[in-house]
Amino acid sequence: MDSLKIDGGVPLTGEIAISGAKNAALPLIAAALAGDGALRLRNVPDLVDTRSMEVLLRNHGMEVGREGDLLVMSGAATNFDAPYDLVRKMRASILVLGPLLARYGEARVSLPGGCAIGTRPVDLHIRAMQAFGAIVELADGYIQARAPSGLTGARVVFPMVSVGATENAMIAATLAKGTSELVNVAREPEISDLAECLIAMGAKISGHGNDTIIIEGVDRLGDATHDVIPDRIEAGTFAIAAAITGGDLTLIRARPRHLDSLTEVLKLCGVTVEEGADRIRVAANGAIGSADITTDPFPGFPTDLQAQFMALMCLADGSSRISETVFENRFMHVPELMRMGADIQVDGGIAMVRGRKSLTPAPVMATDLRASVSLVLAALATEGTTRVSRIYHLDRGYADLEDKLGRCGARMKRV
Ligand code: UD1
Repeated sequence: MDSLKIDGGVPLTGEIAISGAKNAALPLIAAALAGDGALRLRNVPDLVDTRSMEVLLRNHGMEVGREGDLLVMSGAATNFDAPYDLVRKMRASILVLGPLLARYGEARVSLPGGCAIGTRPVDLHIRAMQAFGAIVELADGYIQARAPSGLTGARVVFPMVSVGATENAMIAATLAKGTSELVNVAREPEISDLAECLIAMGAKISGHGNDTIIIEGVDRLGDATHDVIPDRIEAGTFAIAAAITGGDLTLIRARPRHLDSLTEVLKLCGVTVEEGADRIRVAANGAIGSADITTDPFPGFPTDLQAQFMALMCLADGSSRISETVFENRFMHVPELMRMGADIQVDGGIAMVRGRKSLTPAPVMATDLRASVSLVLAALATEGTTRVSRIYHLDRGYADLEDKLGRCGARMKRV
């Protein structure tokens, strides 16, 4: 099993180009199932997760290939089953439910089951499909959904904000008969990116980026070419890498407005943040101050940056209160950071972190994508050699991590 050997203590300096957003690319690839033309996506990051989504589309019978820097999806689905073996590798596979049901009137998708960061049910996805008139049964570990006469537009009020359920409902509503009103939806930049792509395919959508989205169903979705937005979580991770190593990084192709909740907190911690139209410079100025955060749906502080921010607070001058409200079990990085000498106390969804002057190297391993990268950040800030194992999680979400950080001075090697 691969691990990363990291010789830390080097301030990272230089420029890093941010890749396309994984969490935008996954629903966009799934949305191709709803169209009957070719969908061409530019800036799809080359990651284990995006490749898994390509495999899933091929499994449904679609053609998926590359034309230069474009990922091209065309053809039609001939098989409406998303099997357990593919779905268990990646929860986002549930995103094929809406498009298959809306376009073909039929879908059978394995229930994703639990995962490392909590139970993560899919009840909101199912309820939205039922609101559009689908008949849904749960049997043998599968969601079996049918809408023989097509879906019908409806008002769907989400009892809690879910990124994936918003995406599934949006795609389904584009092909439903009549108008849909989706209330209390997610406002993440990835939702707006999906809406823009669906509009380019011929959908009639308004309100995306706000908490109510209105969709007028159309008969078909056709050809489109679309650029995937930059990955705000990758950019945020590297912003924290600059701060935690006492470095100075410029993140090119980052969108400052997508990262406001992080950069405002970094400024509170005494870090310099300079924003351009498509770039962010983050530079440390000596000691890092402490700050409290609470994770929330966008525009709140992203749960996907909570672990990385906690690594930074382990080395801050003062104490910090980190409250996780999105997922119920997202502190698996805590015991590993403590193995490196961090002072953290967890009570339910709250972690109290007392900053230390330094951490010490230790063998550590990670249990999910963002927990993994938080350990990499802690190791980069720590004098001596730290070995981070189970790094296959990193390959699900970070394209060329060693190269990108290596060019900025990081000494890290895959062994
Ligand atoms: C997406 C992101 C993930 C991010 C998360 C929250 C992708 C591919 N993944 O995941 O990186 O951490 O948003 O920003 O975009 N929930 C229910 N029932 C449902 C669906 C969700 O109770 O049917 C709960 C979840 O358990 C969780 C909360 O809602 O507590 C938010 O989850 P959700 O926004 O759906 O996350 P994902 O779309 O799975």
